[in-house]
Parts: sequence; structure tokens; C-alpha cells
Amino acid sequence: MKSFLIIFSAIILGVFTMNSCKKDKAPVDCTTAGCTDTISFANQILPMIQINCTGCHQPGNTSGGYSLSTYSEIVSNADAILNSLNGTGMQLMPQGGPALADTLIQQFSCWKCQGKLDN
Ligand code: HEC
Repeated sequence: MKSFLIIFSAIILGVFTMNSCKKDKAPVDCTTAGCTDTISFANQILPMIQINCTGCHQPGNTSGGYSLSTYSEIVSNADAILNSLNGTGMQLMPQGGPALADTLIQQFSCWKCQGKLDN
């Protein structure tokens, strides 16, 4: 019985440790992606989306079902946005191309791995 308890607690402990590791782990590719500066949502991300995307993705025109006009809409669609900017697994956006400059895509990617700050 005693050894059963020990094994049981070891398993529980293991599960907890594994989970906390996952949570504490730094966002994947922030350092390797070369994100040296903190990206600003207000000064970099929002203007980039407004210039290139909201014409077709806003409450009055939700192309593909996406409205991308507010912070919360952009946060909750961050994965889809990045995939469409890269054309990986989703249609390349802006629709019809060409893709945005690498530096802009990089900025979005850094903003995402820096925790999608509302800054
Ligand atoms: C000229 C209009 C237009 C612009 C500009 C545009 N989109 Fe789109 N977008 C569309 C349309 C139309 C669809 C739906 C395409 C379909 O379902 O066939 C779409 C679909 C999408 C999808 C879903 C793609 C998929 O494969 O499911 C995402 C994500 C998206 N757009 C993001 C963006 C982002 C981010 C930008 C800015 C960089 C952008 N779009 C700019 C028209 C546009």
C-alpha cells in the first residue's frame, strides 16, 4: 500500500511538473527569430493591419469570416493572420499577393511570441 502511494504521488507530481514546465517555457521562437525590440501593437501591428487588411476584414466586410479591426479580434486570430501572411496552410494575404515585406511579417511574428501585448 505504501509503495502504491509513493508511485501514485510520483505520477501526480510528474504531471504537475510537466504542466508547469509547459506554462513557464518561454514562447518558442522569440529569441531564435531575432526579436530584439519589443513590438508595439499601437504603433506597428495595428497600422500594418489597417493599411493592408481591414479594407476587406472589418465588421461591414468580413471576408472569409474574419473581422480584424480591433485588438481583441487581432489577438484571437493571430495564428490565422500569421499563417496567411506566410501563406502556410492558409491562403496568402493580402488577397492576390504580393506578400508583405519580410520585416513586417517578422514584426507580427515577434509581437505574437512576445505575448501579443496591448502596448
Ligand atoms: C482585397 C481584399 C482582401 C485583403 C486586402 C485581405 N484579405 Fe484576407 N481574405 C479576403 C477574402 C475574400 C478571403 C476569403 C477567401 C476565401 O474564402 O476563398 C480572405 C481570407 C482571409 C483569411 C482566411 C484564409 C483561409 O485560408 O482560410 C485570413 C486569415 C485573412 N484573410 C487574413 C488577412 C490578412 C491578415 C490581411 C492583411 C495582411 C488580409 N487578409 C487582407 C480578402 C482580403
